[in-house]
Amino acid sequence: MLGLDLGTTYSTAALVVNGKFHYAIDDRGEACIPSVVHFPRTGAPVVGAEADKLRVADPENTVWGIKRVIGRSLDSPQARRLQAGVVFKLVGHGADEVKVRVRTGDYAASEIAAILLRNLRERAQHRFGKSLTRAVVTVPVLTPRHVRDDMVRIGRMAGLEVLRVVAEPVAGALARGIAGAGDTGAPRLIFDFGGGTLDLTVVQHAANLVKVLATGGDDSLGGDDFDTQFSRYVANAVWGSHQLDVTRDAVLSDTIHRTCERVKRALSAAPSARYLIPEALGAKGRRWDIELPVTRQVMAPVWDELVGRAVDATRETIKASGIDPKSLSAVSLIGGTTFIPQVREAVSRAFGLPLDIENDPQTAVARGAAFLGAFPALIR
Ligand SMILES: Nc1ncnc2c1ncn2[C@@H]1O[C@H](COP(=O)(O)OP(=O)(O)OP(=O)(O)O)[C@@H](O)[C@H]1O
Ligand SMILES: [Mg+2]
Repeated sequence: MLGLDLGTTYSTAALVVNGKFHYAIDDRGEACIPSVVHFPRTGAPVVGAEADKLRVADPENTVWGIKRVIGRSLDSPQARRLQAGVVFKLVGHGADEVKVRVRTGDYAASEIAAILLRNLRERAQHRFGKSLTRAVVTVPVLTPRHVRDDMVRIGRMAGLEVLRVVAEPVAGALARGIAGAGDTGAPRLIFDFGGGTLDLTVVQHAANLVKVLATGGDDSLGGDDFDTQFSRYVANAVWGSHQLDVTRDAVLSDTIHRTCERVKRALSAAPSARYLIPEALGAKGRRWDIELPVTRQVMAPVWDELVGRAVDATRETIKASGIDPKSLSAVSLIGGTTFIPQVREAVSRAFGLPLDIENDPQTAVARGAAFLGAFPALIR
């Protein structure tokens, strides 16, 4: 059975074969497929890394970030926030689910989600050489009931029978060995900080069951917000040096945002990085690069508020579990945003618990979903 993690920024399909995890990798050999759909003039939609490349050239017809608006209306805060950061157009009526308007027509958010899931299923079938039609899918912990239920219909549109819908960090707990031989039976906190949401859970394995003691998080806090804050910092710096307002140019804004994402990653690996967009600015027939030296120290205050919100949400979730923080055995960090040293340090400082870090935190949720598919009795 497939484990499918439909992510805000990346989606992954995992499968347990002979007791080992395997992924439906793409042509680049990557398990994390960009959650991006491009609508060409003719032919089928393009999905994943190929689509992501077309975001710069054809932003009106290249859709990303759709997970945040599944089941939401055009005037929801989620849709308004998405529209503020993208070039493609959102449309809708009243309480109906928001749609995207691209060159080939209007598509509801759940239709885009189905295109992504179908693509994962087809990649998996191709990779494993067999028909795969049953799946466990994951959703953020704060997903409204109707959206959770909707995953079954979205799965059907993608040619899948969805047997189980599980919260992302609960799946993450399974991937991090909560039901494994090395587990002590002490409760554990799973801190899943992805591209679009922060998902938290306190779980415990006892009597062959994984018990969820609390869930929490923030459904409008993720790596995308780190990129947005970084973009504001860049826009201010450009205004300071050239008195040019880059936010008025939607395509340049998108390029700045994408470059922020890249440089943010570089800063996870090294204390400083170079921010460069050649010939990005133009006025009176001249062109200038956007070039800024950035360091972890420079970014700390830019991201401080976001990191603080993540820590506060975590504190609340631990409180809701009724467990004394000291009796938690560890915090398992999953999701791509936990690569950021500032995030790790803040979590470590706030709770004084051992951090359980893995080198592939972005595939943990899909792995956990596949694991639950193989051992469905672990969670009631
Ligand atoms: N090395 C890194 N340093 C900092 N951030 C990173 C790094 N690698 C990935 N990210 C960020 O992690 C996020 C993606 O993580 P992940 O794949 O876990 O999220 P997702 O599943 O798409 O989103 P969500 O679970 O919120 O729906 C992106 O914002 C990406 O920029
Ligand atoms: Mg995720």
